[in-house]
Amino acid sequence: MPHVLIVDDDPNTRDALAEIIGADGLTTATAGDLREARIQLVRQTPDVVFTDLKLPDGSGVDLFEDLDPRSGVEIIVITGHATVESAVSALKMGAADYLVKPVNLQRVKAILDRLPRPGDLKAQIGTLRGELRRMGRFGLMFGNSPAIQEVYDQIGRVAPTAASVLLVGESGTGKEVAAQTLHELSLRRKHAFLAVNCGAISPNLIESEMFGHERGSFTGADRQHKGYFERANGGTLFLDEITEMPAELQVKLLRVLETGCFMRVGTTKEIETDVRVIAATNRDPEEAVLEGKLRLDLYHRLNVFPISLPPLRDRGSDVGLLAQAFLDELNDRHGTKKHFPSAVREMMTSYPWPGNVRELKNYVQRAYIMASPGSDSTATVPLQISLSKPSTGTSVTIPFGTSLAEADRQLILATLGQCGGVKTRAAEILGISLKTLYNRLVEYGDDANKATSGEAGEASAAEGEAGTPGASL
Ligand SMILES: Nc1ncnc2c1ncn2[C@@H]1O[C@H](COP(=O)(O)OP(=O)(O)OP(=O)(O)O)[C@@H](O)[C@H]1O
Ligand SMILES: [Mg+2]
Repeated sequence: MPHVLIVDDDPNTRDALAEIIGADGLTTATAGDLREARIQLVRQTPDVVFTDLKLPDGSGVDLFEDLDPRSGVEIIVITGHATVESAVSALKMGAADYLVKPVNLQRVKAILDRLPRPGDLKAQIGTLRGELRRMGRFGLMFGNSPAIQEVYDQIGRVAPTAASVLLVGESGTGKEVAAQTLHELSLRRKHAFLAVNCGAISPNLIESEMFGHERGSFTGADRQHKGYFERANGGTLFLDEITEMPAELQVKLLRVLETGCFMRVGTTKEIETDVRVIAATNRDPEEAVLEGKLRLDLYHRLNVFPISLPPLRDRGSDVGLLAQAFLDELNDRHGTKKHFPSAVREMMTSYPWPGNVRELKNYVQRAYIMASPGSDSTATVPLQISLSKPSTGTSVTIPFGTSLAEADRQLILATLGQCGGVKTRAAEILGISLKTLYNRLVEYGDDANKATSGEAGEASAAEGEAGTPGASL
């Protein structure tokens, strides 16, 4: 059945339309402003949108930008007598039709009659689109398991608000894509989304990276520098690995969150900023508080809206769905039509994916690259590789005369390679903090890229924008 979204701040018009349309057997959703409309658009792509032009938070025309032109959604603008001209300009911008208030029942019916019903070609396309929805996609995220649907629901609720969000989940569960999706669904989406990995910036530099500095404020500060809080003004700042932020800086962060003001290093002048903070950690935040890694007051401030990303092993058939989505992307990019042989499918479903979605994505890339030339199926790359521990079967040989630093380097890179590039696991096995691991990898440069192999591309895309040291990791 076609689905209709009605956007109007006047409850009478809204209800009247919903009644007429509902009586015609169509499903409806309503919204009182642009913010609510955007949430509804994400929940279910409508076939038709009836929107008032004048809304409390903008013009109904703004919704045109939110709709994918290829999706074939029709927009009908509603307007008062005085603004027929604006309705005409809305038509020029691509609206399918317009209604003048008070809304005429016959006109609405005529518009509805034009809509495809089950049975004709357009309806089949509509059904296909519905199928895509059921296959599961929300913003930048794929998946339709009950566990991930709950996450979608929470993101949809909190996105349009100003609340800080704390994303918690194992490494590779999608905290960063969740943060980007949150940003995309908020009114800030036209401004910057900056991602900062707090564990990857050296403790000496982190304050000036966050808040900026004035020229001459410390040795080497040869010009003024704008920090993340200044550059993300109006937008969203994603603070990844928040527990790796030094305690003194956590105090300063708390102050910005409370007052909206900060000072560049080397000045006492307050600068105002309007930044929404989304923080993330792959540790249990309460444990981090007990261990003194996360200040209790900051935790309370960030934990206004906690969202927990479930590990991939708890998402059931999402494994197959995500794997297919990643393979589709590769096929699209390279103009190929490779599919997974059934052995690979089975292997993927029974594997516990300790590195979560990142490990799965890397695996699909590997299986794609290793496929025999000209073949239509991906390679059957065994999965046990990523499961094996460094102590079983493999070893690092370090001859006498090797410096301690070099031995360290070899051990760290070999462990990381054995963990399929999953840094949290490598840090755990090595018995060092993730921060130390990141700092070492920055030192190792290119060699570290090789050890982290498949994940290099995606991480650099996110961190490169933020311009952090270690952007290539
Ligand atoms: N639901 C999803 N749909 C599509 N891609 C996803 C999804 N979840 C994660 N990914 C992809 O998996 C990779 C890892 O995700 P992401 O970087 O967001 O994880 P993370 O939780 O931030 O990991 P870490 O704790 O190691 O920083 C990325 O390439 C991301 O695009
Ligand atoms: Mg991350």
